[in-house]
Amino acid sequence: MFSAGAALLFSALVQYLTTPNVELPSEVVCWATLPAVILLVRRYGSVSRATTSKTLLGTASRASGAVPSTKAWLFALGVGAACWYRAEERIIVLWPALTPLLLLAGVGPVTTSIKTGLRVFPPPLTARWSSGLIAAFSCVILVGSSGISLPSLAVCVAVVALLYGGYLAISSPASAVDGDAEHAGGQQGRGDAPESSQVEDMALSLGLRILPILAIAMGVRFLVSHELQVALFRVVMVASVKALSWFFTLKATRDSSWCVSSTIGTFAITSTYSSALGDRSSYAYAASHLVASLLSLGQTIDMVPKESKPRTRLWALGVLPLMAFIVNMGGIGALRTLFPPEKHPIEVLARAAEADFDAMLGRQSFNYMAAVLEYQRRYNLEPPSGFEAWYDFAVAHASPIIDEFDMIHQAIAPFLKMSGQEVREAMAQAIGAKDGKLCHCEFKGETGETRCNNPQIQGTLLRWLGGVTGKIPDVEFLVNPLDEPRVMLPEAESTGEERERVRVTNLSRKPVWDVLTRGCAPESGSLTLKKQGARGGINTHGLPFVTDTNADKDLCRHPEYRDMHGIAMSPTTFLLVDGAVPVLSSGTLTTMADVLFPSPAYAEDGFVYDEGRDMEWDLKANNLYWAGSTTGGWAANDDEWKKYHRHRFVALAQDLEPGKTYWYLRKQDGVFHRAASSLLGRDLFDVGFTTILQCRDDICDSEKQYFDVLPRADKDAALASKLVFDLDGNGISGRFVKLLSSRSAVLKQTLFREWHDERLAAWVHYIPVSQDLGEVPELVSWLTGTEEGRARAKTVAERGREWAARAMRDEDRAVYIYRLMLELARIQDPERPAM
Ligand SMILES: *[C@@H]1O[C@H](CO)[C@@H](O)[C@H](O)[C@H]1NC(C)=O
Repeated sequence: MFSAGAALLFSALVQYLTTPNVELPSEVVCWATLPAVILLVRRYGSVSRATTSKTLLGTASRASGAVPSTKAWLFALGVGAACWYRAEERIIVLWPALTPLLLLAGVGPVTTSIKTGLRVFPPPLTARWSSGLIAAFSCVILVGSSGISLPSLAVCVAVVALLYGGYLAISSPASAVDGDAEHAGGQQGRGDAPESSQVEDMALSLGLRILPILAIAMGVRFLVSHELQVALFRVVMVASVKALSWFFTLKATRDSSWCVSSTIGTFAITSTYSSALGDRSSYAYAASHLVASLLSLGQTIDMVPKESKPRTRLWALGVLPLMAFIVNMGGIGALRTLFPPEKHPIEVLARAAEADFDAMLGRQSFNYMAAVLEYQRRYNLEPPSGFEAWYDFAVAHASPIIDEFDMIHQAIAPFLKMSGQEVREAMAQAIGAKDGKLCHCEFKGETGETRCNNPQIQGTLLRWLGGVTGKIPDVEFLVNPLDEPRVMLPEAESTGEERERVRVTNLSRKPVWDVLTRGCAPESGSLTLKKQGARGGINTHGLPFVTDTNADKDLCRHPEYRDMHGIAMSPTTFLLVDGAVPVLSSGTLTTMADVLFPSPAYAEDGFVYDEGRDMEWDLKANNLYWAGSTTGGWAANDDEWKKYHRHRFVALAQDLEPGKTYWYLRKQDGVFHRAASSLLGRDLFDVGFTTILQCRDDICDSEKQYFDVLPRADKDAALASKLVFDLDGNGISGRFVKLLSSRSAVLKQTLFREWHDERLAAWVHYIPVSQDLGEVPELVSWLTGTEEGRARAKTVAERGREWAARAMRDEDRAVYIYRLMLELARIQDPERPAM
């Protein structure tokens, strides 16, 4: 009775004190020092038996407690696996299942099963049926409250199977003998055995096998995780409590049966394990842990031999789970009041993004040497010639960004693999190609003059690059004057001859998804669907909030985009350039190879921000505004057009689809839940088409009937709303920077990459919107309808405006293009060999 009580107490203490990182080392120390503990106990405790320390070390000694080698190895394997698993997952959630399994195998106390018929109340806790029920209950609540993953659960099954095998192996001979003795005549048999020496022998023979297994487990874990921070004091403390718990558990198993170790273990887990306070914390779990631990305590008491009279005193240990329960309840209550309720995912995303952005800004190189080192570090390449003059130019023009030009490097990298001569040849081929529609420009470094065979592009570049003279080598470059991107690199497996050829194909008004995604690895689609929802621990509650703008734009990860965007379904113009040739475009797709430069549209009159047309935040209407025309794709097929991005957005905002389900987040008990509704706050959306175009005549008629077409709107009407929407047309939207510069907050949906992607931060300067649009009702309702949401919208509006004035000026575009020109000059240098 004493050893069972001590085993219960120390096992619970182990469970309470241990942490994943000390689990394995403390177990090693425990099994290495257990003999010392035993000797201490023997010297100062009960009368010593005949066995000496010398015979203890003999593995196959004649002493009755020593375990045969193979069985000991099996047991050691079980203990090792359990320990390793605890280091990973903290608790073995299926541990309680051991009790009925061992009982079924006949390892349990024989006494109770004989008396079963006589006991009515309390019911026999160690009968097969009741122990099965108790185990099922305990496992279910442990699985539920630990929130364990399915793969981990599968591993847990294997661990428990190993433990079961190990326990069975070392208990079978003893229990068989005990059982025979019991049947033969009474219950004194066990009392006569020289218990303590048995336990000592056992502990030693087991320890000799457990130690190497644990050492291997520790080595593997270190190799995998490279974590080696060991809190020595805690290891020693946990190890000594573990040694005590093992010692008394082994003793207790000699007093009754091996099954008692499983109920002791269950008690240890359920009496101390507080359901991971947080999302899952609930009174129901706290209460069910209490019940489960009291049941396992009862089972343990049932198994303690009847002759130890005061065994019912063990019930006093029920105070442990009761205390844990009270702490848990208090903990839940205290947590609820101590910590503010769960934050809205938008708020969580915004705060994380602000921290990332501020850190990025703080990291920019602050002198030329640092900028060179950073360039070398990032690209494993020397900066292009003229880099120092560029650095001086950037600093002179107060560019807040010095290092974030990875997109330039990514775009240029494929051409570094070609020689300068090959690049020039490819450019010449592209200019000469039929239907090429490429504009050819020349930049003269000496005068800073740009000449293009397209007056609009020439004018814009002159305006932006006017101040850059004398430091750039002469550069020739090709500019794509269309809205849509152009260039696809040849596929990796194509032969050298094909690589050299530059072809232009007219794919206008055709579905081009298969062309766009021909380079995607076949399995990449399925991988990402899983990733959607929660990334980086941010729970979006099943709404498609954009947590990563790069991943969101990645065509390879989103096979569903095939039918969601005009550019993929029926681009108005799509003159595909097949070949490795550098072409400057204002926007591109993740699978395409256009080199990005700031869209000349940003310099056009209608797209330049005019402070005089804007108004103060408080005067703006508390709604979302968008008006525009039906660009984005050529509409010639019945109903296909309903899937184009602009059409989908307007249909949503005008609530045109009968029976459509809208998703919102509702707060309950301080926690958000997704809730469906058939209602859209229609008055929150001031959205509509003003012009129907890019459609076959009959389709235009259908579109006019379907949509609530608005009268033509003033181009600055958007600035009268707190929230303004911006989305792709045939290509990038030229309004974006103007809206960003305004005092309104921009909600931005786009599939295109742009030159500014690296300097603009989603959730900081604008609110990103998914292609799916499923989060839009909640976005708008939260940003307009809650105090916290309106404050966030205002912050985004202000930060976007402030940042546009600092990092999206003409000077910033010049800094970008200047650096791009240096790289373009390098790749087309006729002297440069392929790298
Ligand atoms: C490309 O094809 C479209 C439709 O098939 C046609 O309208 C257009 O004129 C063509 N463009 C060129 C440059 O050939």
